[in-house]
Amino acid sequence: MKTTLIRPFLLLVSLLLIAGLGLPPASAQSKPVPNAQLASKQLNARVDALLKQMTLDEKVGQLAQFSAGYATGPGASNMRYDDMAAKGQVGSFLNVVGAEATNHYQHIAVEKSRLHIPILFGQDVIHGHRTTFPVPLALAASWDPAAVELVAHYGAEEARADGIPWVFSPMVDIARDPRWGRIVESAGEDPYLGSAMARAWVKGYQQGDLSKPDSVAVSVKHFAAYGGAIAGRDYNAVDMGEITLRQVYLEPYRAAVEAGAATLMSSFNSINGIPASANPLTLTQILRKEWGFDGFVVSDWGAVAELRNHSIGDDATVARKALVAGVDADMEGNLYGTVIAAQVRAGKIPESVVDEAVRRILRVKFALGLFDHPYTAEGPAYDATPERRAAARKVAGETFVLLKNDPVEGVGTLLPLTAKAKKVALIGPLADNKAEMLGAWAVTGDPKYAVTLKTALAERLGDRLLYAQGCELLSGEDANVIKRVNFGGPVAADAHLPVPDDAKTIAEAVETAKKADVAILALGEPTNWMEGEASSRVSLGFTGAQQQLLEAVAATGKPVILVILAGRPLELKWAAAHVPAILLAWSPGVEAGHAVADALFGDVNPSGKLPATLPRAVGQEPLYYAQLPTGRPAHGDLSHMPGNSEEKFMSRYMDEDNTALFPFGWGLSYTRFSYSQPAISRAEVPVQEVLANHSPVTTVGVDVKNTGSVAGTEVVQLYIRNTAASVEQPVRELKGFARVTLAPGETKHVEFPLGFDELNFYSAEIKRTVEPTTYKIWVGGNSLATAETSLQVVE
Ligand code: NOJ
Repeated sequence: MKTTLIRPFLLLVSLLLIAGLGLPPASAQSKPVPNAQLASKQLNARVDALLKQMTLDEKVGQLAQFSAGYATGPGASNMRYDDMAAKGQVGSFLNVVGAEATNHYQHIAVEKSRLHIPILFGQDVIHGHRTTFPVPLALAASWDPAAVELVAHYGAEEARADGIPWVFSPMVDIARDPRWGRIVESAGEDPYLGSAMARAWVKGYQQGDLSKPDSVAVSVKHFAAYGGAIAGRDYNAVDMGEITLRQVYLEPYRAAVEAGAATLMSSFNSINGIPASANPLTLTQILRKEWGFDGFVVSDWGAVAELRNHSIGDDATVARKALVAGVDADMEGNLYGTVIAAQVRAGKIPESVVDEAVRRILRVKFALGLFDHPYTAEGPAYDATPERRAAARKVAGETFVLLKNDPVEGVGTLLPLTAKAKKVALIGPLADNKAEMLGAWAVTGDPKYAVTLKTALAERLGDRLLYAQGCELLSGEDANVIKRVNFGGPVAADAHLPVPDDAKTIAEAVETAKKADVAILALGEPTNWMEGEASSRVSLGFTGAQQQLLEAVAATGKPVILVILAGRPLELKWAAAHVPAILLAWSPGVEAGHAVADALFGDVNPSGKLPATLPRAVGQEPLYYAQLPTGRPAHGDLSHMPGNSEEKFMSRYMDEDNTALFPFGWGLSYTRFSYSQPAISRAEVPVQEVLANHSPVTTVGVDVKNTGSVAGTEVVQLYIRNTAASVEQPVRELKGFARVTLAPGETKHVEFPLGFDELNFYSAEIKRTVEPTTYKIWVGGNSLATAETSLQVVE
């Protein structure tokens, strides 16, 4: 009786779901459906109807992507794009910016090509489009997914207004080696923080609905494990076990796909000997079969053609391998366009493989509404509106990490600056350089809108501000370094030109400091092209004569505040030992100067925390907190690890500690926070309960109190260690965080849920699992947190 009633009801619900919500039929629901729009039946029916009308050449045309504007890689094709668009030989363009330029090609494609298929325009929108926000590594330092979502949404809105419905962002590569210049584009070293940021980027760009006029499709990059490049050298091979690959490096991509990411970009590197742009394990098995991804994969610039350099075959072979493995679109390779059709005709590639790639691309075009609204309204650009500038300033204020603020004898702490500092000397090559404020990959950001620290401090201090540049960013560097940084011409006329006489300008800066009560030094490294793509370094010091400048100013005995403007962890050992106050401000974007001044004067209380470990010496790299254990831990590796400082045969360096100079999660405030003993709601949980579902099985609660005299925001962090797993686990892993704002004297209770998602790991059989064990749990303000509790997972 019951069954007869239930069956028609279920059938009705299924029919309603299929018809109304556009979900796939029940038979297809065994695989996850991360993006219901791309899986929708109606949409796929439109795709199939169009596909049926397409010739093989038209299909291959959809797979081809070209850069019809400026180049963001080597060897741009520079072809007759008007003709090609009219013949349906271009599926997408990159680097065509603006309503007018994109409409030009779109009119040709839609009005002149046989099937009127619109072109998809993609662009590197990395940390804002017209309005430049802080670089992604800085945004990760905010530990504020809501801020990232906002930045993404502004970027989407501005990109769409410029005719760009597809952004090559977010970059979610785990970056554990700051020699790799692209760490600036990442969320740093940690898979949990990286996944939170990945979700926020996708949500902010796509807003859960690609058809909205201010949504853009993301391209999550660079799939996969591009950040694991051996020796931190860009484009280099990646070689790691599958457990580390999945548990650490793939996690943020998985998070992005689960959040509905419409496209991914395949990377340049190989993974364990198989190039990522021809890798069936990552592109098909993991991405499509395990994660249920229905969007398309575009190669990185020329990555398909570069497969030749990986020595896996000739043109025809590498193009076939890439396509069959799951790279659907060929960015600036022009290899699919020239060799795929012939191989299909020769029976070497089944046409169904081409069909599937075209289907994936068309799905995204339909979901974005390009067939219904192919053109972009021409109107004024969004350049630097007051509302956007205010948002950029506020967000930047959340990203600064106060590394150190020690009291100076007779003065007290230097930050925040008070009226006691009557004369302030601002010194350094980054104190008044607009272009450098925007950071790497500010493709469409215009330096003319950037506010420097000199401008912002002058607004506040008037003639109480003294200034000296001190040196150039690259003075004294090797000619090759200067040539590489100036690639494509100097970014700004005043940016990177070495001056012959550092001694003279440093002496002038010293004299300026002597006239002041406090000296603020703005130092770092050039952002273009010393950070970002193809910008690996073997040293992590300040460039040029900046270290000399710092030491000379410090030698005056005047109190020094160091503001670091850089997009990677630098080697700060001397500064940490000799400079009382250090603010890591990254590359803050268009409102840089105002935002840094807000923090220096205490209008904004710093709350950023390090998303990447700062080393004592470059030779420690890759250095990250979530290390796997060693049988011979050195004393002081991490506070909770035993060791013997006298023993020779331990895992350590002869000439340096193992520990970080500033650990992951570190960041001070102008106030102080205290933590209660963490309490766990259930200290013992059966393993079956954890395995049975993905909801929390227990919670860890802690009271956090602002014990200082000003309001502040603390990023409360929870770390775990699995002490008895069948596969060894890191000595600590971040598994929860929360930004908590507290008035002076205020206490708030923070709860962290724990369940399968936080407790699982990959078994030797490459399955996510949880076993009976004890988890140590710490809660605190950084990765050395000591307030501890534990959880027993029992049989
Ligand atoms: C190469 C870079 O690796 C990638 O991040 C970027 O999106 C493409 N070029 C397109 O500019």
